[in-house]
Amino acid sequence: MRGTAVLTGATSGIGLSSAKALAWLGFRVIGVGRNPERVREAERQIRAACREGDTPLSGDNIAADNQVLSPEPDVSFVTGDLSTTDGVRRIAAGIRDLLAQTGGTLDILVLAAGTVSTWHTTTAEAYELQFAVNHLAPFLLTHELLPCLRAAESARVLVVSSRSHYHTRIRWEDVMMRRRYHCLAAYKQSKLCNVLFALEFARREQTQSRPIQMYAVDPGLVATEIGLKGTAGIERLVWRLRMRAGTHPEVPAQEIVRIATEPAYEGQSGKYWFRAREKIPSRVARDPEQAARLWRLSEQLCGLTGEKTTHE
Ligand SMILES: NC(=O)c1ccc[n+]([C@@H]2O[C@H](COP(=O)([O-])OP(=O)(O)OC[C@H]3O[C@@H](n4cnc5c(N)ncnc54)[C@H](OP(=O)(O)O)[C@@H]3O)[C@@H](O)[C@H]2O)c1
Repeated sequence: MRGTAVLTGATSGIGLSSAKALAWLGFRVIGVGRNPERVREAERQIRAACREGDTPLSGDNIAADNQVLSPEPDVSFVTGDLSTTDGVRRIAAGIRDLLAQTGGTLDILVLAAGTVSTWHTTTAEAYELQFAVNHLAPFLLTHELLPCLRAAESARVLVVSSRSHYHTRIRWEDVMMRRRYHCLAAYKQSKLCNVLFALEFARREQTQSRPIQMYAVDPGLVATEIGLKGTAGIERLVWRLRMRAGTHPEVPAQEIVRIATEPAYEGQSGKYWFRAREKIPSRVARDPEQAARLWRLSEQLCGLTGEKTTHE
């Protein structure tokens, strides 16, 4: 076994394709999914893909170079919902239990779960759904798994952001968009949060002797069903049309796996990547004050204030 990878959003789209590729490369894969039936189906698909050699990396140079191809992958799932902090903590506990079976270390964390909602939907904690799933969940799950990442020889965290993070800002005056909600505006804000989080995490890691590497990845336009799940009306229609121009999820999965595994990306932490090449994120995303403010707010919303974080 080459190490362990945990992936959220591993039941479909970019997360599922990335899970197939990492399993094929010989990583122990722990996926996270919210629906037991979809979890079973994803697990079946990952196993079948490895057995049949039909993964995003089959025939790829990466596979040839690595030579640890795995027709019988070690794959398991933790089932839970990422929309509440309690849910994230339960998922983290499940992951830690599974990791304990192999020494408790985590080498790769891919934060790919994401959601879109036409309606202003509030979670059990009264947080706006896209902010909760797309930003708070990656923030809290990373925090919860830090000791396992720290225990690995060299750990990498990848958060799947988007080009949607350009031309937007954080609505500090109404982060949950209670007064004025727009589906795309809430999505864009959450994807900006992904980049701010990655860059701030990398900055904070600089003081560590063995910094955990963190990357924000733009997968490009990908033909997945994300825009058909929590949507109706114009958003659904627009996504149906946009999907036609999207790439197969295998394309970003290959890039995610490159960044997660190739030595060339070591020391490239705190950067934003498109097509596995560095790209300059938006001006707001590069603003350390915005990032620090988001960090403090996220700690507060996740109930981490007063707790000693590993970055202190
Ligand atoms: N598709 C694109 O063009 C595009 C472009 C830029 C960025 N992205 C980003 O890429 C990431 C992956 O999206 P995708 O396009 O691959 O969409 P997708 O196929 O819908 O995948 C999203 C994943 O997140 C899971 N998920 C959603 N809400 C959850 C919750 N509350 N708890 C636990 N899991 C939850 C979904 O579970 P289910 O399988 O149960 O639905 C699914 O596995 C997202 O962060 C998205 O913002 C996508």
